[in-house]
Amino acid sequence: MADTLSIPANGSKEEIYRALLPQIEAVIAGVDDVVANMANVAAILKQAFGFYWVGFYRTTAPRVLTLGPFQGPLACVTIPFEKGVCGAAARTQKTILVPDVEKFPGHIACSSLSKSEIVVPLVQAGTTQLVLDVDSDKLDDFDAVDQLWLEKIVGLIARQNFS
Ligand code: SME
Repeated sequence: MADTLSIPANGSKEEIYRALLPQIEAVIAGVDDVVANMANVAAILKQAFGFYWVGFYRTTAPRVLTLGPFQGPLACVTIPFEKGVCGAAARTQKTILVPDVEKFPGHIACSSLSKSEIVVPLVQAGTTQLVLDVDSDKLDDFDAVDQLWLEKIVGLIARQNFS
């Protein structure tokens, strides 16, 4: 496994995601440990895009998310499915894009610097196993391109055996 990422210089967001996907696939291939895989995916996304906060919350009890591997500032540890953007994505089992977190009812402000957010759930056999949360310190920083590619990345982790 290569220990350095190949990231297209001056590439568009889409070009960078496209280049990253097979590298992420290679990094997690054959690694049967979801925590290790979440850790490397968070590190790769942070290195490639410099996201303000990028990481995972896992479902650790019925309808409760607990902080997993991440890159960025200190974060909230426990999020019930009823709260926040992460909880909403876990509950609805759909990706949620929030252009302005202050306008999202129930948003959990782990950091006042976070301005926009995207949360992608990983659902297996009807159960939300985890969510990938990416926060930006800029308003309206995520769009359908992020959604498409972050869902593909979460899809790679979904090949993991969670049982
Ligand atoms: N803002 C999230 C909480 C997690 S942190 O941003 C890292 C939410 O509303 O679910």
